[in-house]
Amino acid sequence: MATLSIATLCTSILLPFFLATLLIIGGRVEGRAFFVFGDSLVDSGNNNYLTTTARADSPPYGIDFPTHRPTGRFSNGLNIPDLISESIGGRESPLPYLSPALRGQRLLVGANFASAGIGILNDTGVQFVNIIRISQQLAYFQQYQQRVSVLIGAGETQRLVNQALVLITLGGNDFVNNYYLVPFSARSRQFSLPDYVRYLISEYQKILMRIYELGARRVLVTGTGPLGCVPAELAMRSRNGECSAELQRAAALFNPQLTQMILNLNSQIGANVFIAANTQLMNNDFIRNPQAFGFVTSKVACCGQGPYNGLGLCTQLSNLCPNRDIYAFWDPFHPSERANRFIVRQIVTGTSEYMNPMNLTTILALDSQT
Ligand SMILES: *[C@@H]1O[C@H](CO)[C@@H](O)[C@H](O)[C@H]1NC(C)=O
Ligand SMILES: *[C@@H]1O[C@H](CO)[C@@H](O)[C@H](O)[C@H]1NC(C)=O
Repeated sequence: MATLSIATLCTSILLPFFLATLLIIGGRVEGRAFFVFGDSLVDSGNNNYLTTTARADSPPYGIDFPTHRPTGRFSNGLNIPDLISESIGGRESPLPYLSPALRGQRLLVGANFASAGIGILNDTGVQFVNIIRISQQLAYFQQYQQRVSVLIGAGETQRLVNQALVLITLGGNDFVNNYYLVPFSARSRQFSLPDYVRYLISEYQKILMRIYELGARRVLVTGTGPLGCVPAELAMRSRNGECSAELQRAAALFNPQLTQMILNLNSQIGANVFIAANTQLMNNDFIRNPQAFGFVTSKVACCGQGPYNGLGLCTQLSNLCPNRDIYAFWDPFHPSERANRFIVRQIVTGTSEYMNPMNLTTILALDSQT
């Protein structure tokens, strides 16, 4: 009925607006918009457009991607945002915000603002030169909303953002590419580890509140993985293949405080806006018992060189395993596509130990009722 009365009012001035409204209604049937913020674990190619050393745009990255070509994803194939997009209705994964192809109706699918190398802090990743720090990612999110408003109007844009799913992955680089980057780093001289973690959590809280102010209402927040167990740290810090105790201590301090901060924010807001994904536990499952997940190893990266294939970058000159599905780690820092699938499976269906206060299946069921 509402449609009819709008239709009768429809003049040549109103018609474009009316068509846009129909398209967004069509879009809503397909699924909700998806926005991604964070670092290399979730970057789908923004760094391809930047002058930076933090990039994954040459082979063998992407070797198992549908196109078998590098895309800027730090994976042999799909990454975590791709697999989440798959599970929220098989939509296409949102394009990198810097991609020239992200325009017109494709904007309504969402956008990926993530940039490899960044952290919670502005001084994290300075060695990568030109990366999109989190404050800039949020500024782009604001710019995105202005661009979408031109297409569908401010009210529909706000609705699109309010109803969207958001993923944010930060923190790992604040340890490996800042505090522990070199012995006696500036941050490690400034802060003891427990004080540094408290500082990171307080800065992260400001970032999450800003995302909320910008309209996000369902935000998956991942913790860090078991930082001391990645092939890069085994190569640099381990004698017998044991995980680096210092980096494990960092992850063990950071992750529970992040969950606590998130639950506090939710009670301040009075709604379950933020959802803590216990990625430490999700990763630990296959790192501790790789064979149970069909991996031959969780210590040696598929692509790399040196001990555990953990030194330097994954390039065309690196060792490359023939079957990526039997390695938990694709390169010295990043899980393989198959490992990402185990992580996303827990995000979608995990118990409250993995997803606090609830998993994605529950979120989707709740949100479809409103
Ligand atoms: C990081 O940089 C941005 C942009 O320059 C600034 O607004 C923000 O306050 C900085 N954050 C911290 C913690 O210094
Ligand atoms: C999701 O979480 C709920 C609550 O913890 C749990 O009962 C359910 O089994 C989980 N999995 C799915 C698929 O809903």
